[in-house]
Amino acid sequence: MAVSLIDARTARWHRVLLCRLFPLYAHELSHFTPFFTIDERGHWNPELSRDWLVNPLVTPLLIYNDDAPVGFAIIGRKPFQYMSQDRDFKLCEFFILASERRKSIGRAAACEIFDRFRGTWELTILPLNERAHAFWRSVLVPYTKGNLEEFQVPGDIVMRFSNR
Ligand SMILES: CC(C)(COP(=O)(O)OP(=O)(O)OC[C@H]1O[C@@H](n2cnc3c(N)ncnc32)[C@H](O)[C@@H]1OP(=O)(O)O)[C@@H](O)C(=O)NCCC(=O)NCCS
Repeated sequence: MAVSLIDARTARWHRVLLCRLFPLYAHELSHFTPFFTIDERGHWNPELSRDWLVNPLVTPLLIYNDDAPVGFAIIGRKPFQYMSQDRDFKLCEFFILASERRKSIGRAAACEIFDRFRGTWELTILPLNERAHAFWRSVLVPYTKGNLEEFQVPGDIVMRFSNR
């Protein structure tokens, strides 16, 4: 297994790939939130992937395992409007294809992302998304050596840490 990250803005086919992966993610999260809805033409809304590709405060990364695309991660940087302004970065979205799960790909990709961007971080988890909660605990408790803040606000579990 060799996990690597590619900025989705670097080539047209990378941008296309991110836009094709987005509906899979929206469908997955629709288990846990009414935020994503599908319209009569089969498009998942809101179509966040368009903003991810043009917003200068967002880094959209494709996750590869060897040569195969297996997911994506979306990172916001202060002053991105959908993050706390006392944080440097927010891991906004994170997705691994269903067929590639439980192979430690998510863990490897997440650690590489955090190592790449040093500072104060936050991420939020939908409370019904128990798998994601277990995943982030499993990744972040060792990554932060236990220096992980976790609390609940209406609608979200919040995790915060620093890797300066
Ligand atoms: C959550 C997600 C990113 C995990 O990715 P993954 O590549 O399967 O995770 P890993 O294989 O690296 O798992 C690392 C650890 O997380 C925990 N974990 C992962 N999936 C889990 C599950 N379904 N149930 C319980 N624990 C789980 C385990 O401790 C695992 O270690 P182990 O396999 O040695 O037991 C993936 O399931 C996914 O993309 N889900 C849909 C989108 C989503 O919910 N994104 C998160 C938004 S906050």
